[in-house]
Amino acid sequence: MTTSPIPQGYPEAQPFTPAHYPGLSGKVVLNTGAGSGIGRAMAHAFARHGARLMLLDIDAAALEQTRAQLREAFPFVDVHIVQASIADDVAVEQACAATEARLGRIDVLLNNAGISMNKPSLELKPAEWRRAIDIDLSGVFYCAQAAGKRMARQGGGVILSTASIWGLSSSAHRLAYCAAKAGVVSLTKCLAAEWAQHRIRVNAICPGYTHTALMEDLMGRGVINGAELCGKTPMNRLGRPEEMAEAALYLASDASAFITGHALVSDGGWLAHGY
Ligand SMILES: NC(=O)c1ccc[n+]([C@@H]2O[C@H](COP(=O)([O-])OP(=O)(O)OC[C@H]3O[C@@H](n4cnc5c(N)ncnc54)[C@H](O)[C@@H]3O)[C@@H](O)[C@H]2O)c1
Repeated sequence: MTTSPIPQGYPEAQPFTPAHYPGLSGKVVLNTGAGSGIGRAMAHAFARHGARLMLLDIDAAALEQTRAQLREAFPFVDVHIVQASIADDVAVEQACAATEARLGRIDVLLNNAGISMNKPSLELKPAEWRRAIDIDLSGVFYCAQAAGKRMARQGGGVILSTASIWGLSSSAHRLAYCAAKAGVVSLTKCLAAEWAQHRIRVNAICPGYTHTALMEDLMGRGVINGAELCGKTPMNRLGRPEEMAEAALYLASDASAFITGHALVSDGGWLAHGY
């Protein structure tokens, strides 16, 4: 039960037509945070393209659920799961090694797992700051490095991190989240510059407010108000996880071959409007 329901009918507001990128068929994709929300939608989108998937999440039951969904929707999908926390660099290295052992390589890293951290800065405890930075920034780096060294060895790859509009803008009561996501945008540009010589493209997507479990949790606790957020968004709705997955497909595909170091915003006009 949420305290701030999203206005009904928003999914009908704009038609959504997924594109198709034949080159993604057979690619090995390591997808973090695949147990829910945007990561789960990415798993569906890449499975639809015939990619071979290693799904990573800290939540084993959620991972199992995503895998079961994929097998039902795409009976021939090659999908594996690994439970790990991206904040644990040793576990991340093991997960990348397991991906390589099972699927032979890592072509695409969907560096997506993350948590929210909304709290007034005067009340933010050091442990909460560390948790947000450990997962939302350090975890993204651990995954990028562990996958990146394999991509460099194999002669190329794509790294795509899920940052946020709050990586490009800032807000009261979101210090740790904004700092971490701004760090992800910076990390994306630094690695793009450094690893282009290895034929690794590194980009980020910056979603606006997107209707996922993370959002349901924040709305349920009254931290944010869904209707108010829609009202502040020029397109007057939340994003759909599938729309974020669609941006990921494009940035992972050869259609974006010359794009690296970019942070692609998908926010219904939120940032353009100046919030
Ligand atoms: N939903 C939004 O409005 C929104 C907007 C901007 C950016 N984002 C970002 O998109 C990403 C996905 O968010 P979502 O809305 O789908 O959230 P979600 O809560 O629905 O899914 C996040 C997934 O990450 C997993 N996870 C959390 N901590 C982890 C860890 N330490 N190691 C491995 N897995 C972990 C969770 O178990 C969950 O399955 C996050 O990085 C988030 O910051 C979301």
